[in-house]
Formats: sequence, structure tokens, C-alpha cells
Amino acid sequence: MRESKEWGESAELRESRVSGASGTPAGEGVVGVPAGAGFIELDGVEKVFDVRKKTGFLKRERRRVRAVDGLSFTVARGEMVGYIGPNGAGKSTTIKMLTGILTPSGGRLRVAGIDPARERIRLAHRMGVVFGQRTTLWWDLPLIDSYRLMHRMYRIPDARYRENLDRCVELLQLRELLDVPVRQLSLGQRMRGDIAAALLHDPEVLYLDEPTIGLDVVSKAKVRGFLRDLNAESGTTVLLTTHDLQDIEQLCSRVMVIDHGRLMYDGALEGLHEAGESERTLVVDLERELPPIDAPAPARVVRVEGPRQWLAFPASASAAGLVARIAAEYPLVDLSVREPDIESVIAKMYAERAGA
Ligand SMILES: Nc1ncnc2c1ncn2[C@@H]1O[C@H](COP(=O)(O)OP(=O)(O)OP(=O)(O)O)[C@@H](O)[C@H]1O
Ligand SMILES: [Mg+2]
Repeated sequence: MRESKEWGESAELRESRVSGASGTPAGEGVVGVPAGAGFIELDGVEKVFDVRKKTGFLKRERRRVRAVDGLSFTVARGEMVGYIGPNGAGKSTTIKMLTGILTPSGGRLRVAGIDPARERIRLAHRMGVVFGQRTTLWWDLPLIDSYRLMHRMYRIPDARYRENLDRCVELLQLRELLDVPVRQLSLGQRMRGDIAAALLHDPEVLYLDEPTIGLDVVSKAKVRGFLRDLNAESGTTVLLTTHDLQDIEQLCSRVMVIDHGRLMYDGALEGLHEAGESERTLVVDLERELPPIDAPAPARVVRVEGPRQWLAFPASASAAGLVARIAAEYPLVDLSVREPDIESVIAKMYAERAGA
């Protein structure tokens, strides 16, 4: 039996996995992708939800929600892309369309040349998905039993299954957990279990919808390290949705920002800093309490507390020159650089667009 609060869509996905057992074998090569095309391709994709809200006795109001609104982007095979945006931006809806759980209301969407809504089962063998908010594991069964079921459902060749399982068990540190019923696992343990489950059939693309939600620092580091290795070694294409912007900083060279179902930014993380004019902070500890450091513009002291001073400088600039200058002119004891909070960068970017 599955977790009772699991969403309906997930059950559908499970169904497609089960019935997909007779479909294309796992580990099949790329078919249907024209040379030079993206592995994931969206062209003017839309998703409109009709929502009926009860507004009084017998009264219902109909409302249309444009969750995804003319979204176009391509992701090349082997890329690891961050997909970020505020709550309700349309991130999960995009992932559900990419996995075939939801059908787009308009536009064109292809993954490996396949239309996910039409051929979900065929695609299920080639993709893995992890929804951080719920599990695809069997709630009452020991973890290993879920894996055994997936082994059969996906018809994963025995040697391949064992190899993948061993690797996941080792790298995600699941050995001790294999005989524990899923419901007894902590959130971080379960998430690692879910990531392994998504990878047993060697998917070419992995969708992660908030895989580090609620994890402690150590678990986050484990998950990030694992994903980095997976992408580097297996060339798995990864689309990662997260609110923890350190996930993106540590894993993705490309980031897409969406809001109100529209793409706001697509490019390097550094470019996002520039677009949002974000700043890094240099924290210096001096030998003693001194007046604010006379820093070269645009760097400036933003806070002084005893011998410790905080200097803000553009995130796109190097800290080296600033550090050298302070070290030459002040009795420097220690220093550290703090990265900007990208959430505030994005907020600033939105504010600028709104005002434009
Ligand atoms: N099944 C549904 N029926 C009606 N509206 C929906 C449905 N799923 C999503 N929505 C609406 O579509 C919009 C986008 O939701 P979505 O879950 O894609 O956002 P998100 O970017 O994943 O947000 P979060 O960061 O909170 O996870 C929201 O306004 C949401 O209320
Ligand atoms: Mg979401």
C-alpha cells in the first residue's frame, strides 16, 4: 500500500510504470531525436487549469489558472539545469507535463523525440522522477521490496539491476535501511531511497522536484554529491527544481527562472547575479576595532561590529583585489566571503521587470 496522502497523479505514474513493463526495454538507445535537436524541447507550451471554487450555498465560481503560459526552452542531452521560481510559478506543472502525468493545453513538447502525454509508457522506461513532497515507494514494505518490484516492473536485466542497486546503496548510504519499512524512514532517508528507486532502470533523464526539501545539511550534501557524480559519470540529463538555491549553485551551470508560467531568465548562474545586480559580502576580522574600512567603490562597508566589518561588493566581481587592498592597509586577522541569497536576487529581478 502506498502512502495515503500521495497525490493522484503519482498513482497514475505508478500505473504507467506497471503496465509499461511490456513496453520498450530499459537502457534502449536514443531514438527519434533529430541531430542537433534538444533532448527536452518545449515550444509555446501551455497548461490551463479550470478551477471551480465554492463561493456560497450552491454557488460556484469558475476560474482559469494559467499555470504554464507559452513556455519555450530546450535542454541538451547530459545537461544539468536548475529550474527555479516562486511558489505557484508552474515548476511542478512543467515537470508533470514532461513526465506525461499532465497533458499540455497547448504548444509542443518532446522528450527524446517522444510526446510524453501520448507515449507515457514508452517514456517511463527512459526517465526517472523524484517528487520530494511524496514518495513512489511502497509505504508498508521494506525499502528493498520496492526495488524488487521495480526490477520486475521495468524488466531490468538482473546484472544491470544489481549493479545499479549496489551503486545507489553505496553512494546514497542505504545499506542499513534496506530492510526497514518505508514508513519508518526519516525524510532524508526516504528521499535517498526515492532517488535510488528513480535510477534503477538507468533513465536517460532525471526530473527532481525539490529533492532536498526538509533535509538536514549532511543529507543535502550527500544527495548533491550523488547527483553531481551521476551527471558527470553517466551523462544523465537532470532537471532540478528547488527552493534551496545552494542546490543550484553547487550543481547547475545553467538556470532557468520561471514566474507565472513564463520563462524570466535562462542562462548561467553568474548572469542571474548580474541581472539581479546582486552583491557578495566580504566579512573581515581586524586585529582591533577600527573605523569603517575605506574600500574602493563600488565596494562599501555595510556593517561594523567591534573588530568585524562587512563589505558588500558586486557578485560578478572578483574578491581578490579587494582582499589584497585591505590586507595591505589594515591589520587583517581573518576573512570569509558570503554568497548572495539568490532568492532575493530573483525578487529584485521580478521587481525590475514589473516596473519596466
Ligand atoms: N491540479 C491542479 N488544479 C488546479 N490548479 C493547479 C493544479 N496544479 C497546479 N495548479 C495551479 O497552477 C499553478 C502552478 O502550480 P505549480 O504546482 O506548478 O507551482 P510550483 O512552481 O511547483 O510551486 P511550488 O514552488 O509551490 O511547488 C498554481 O497557481 C497552482 O495553484
Ligand atoms: Mg512545486
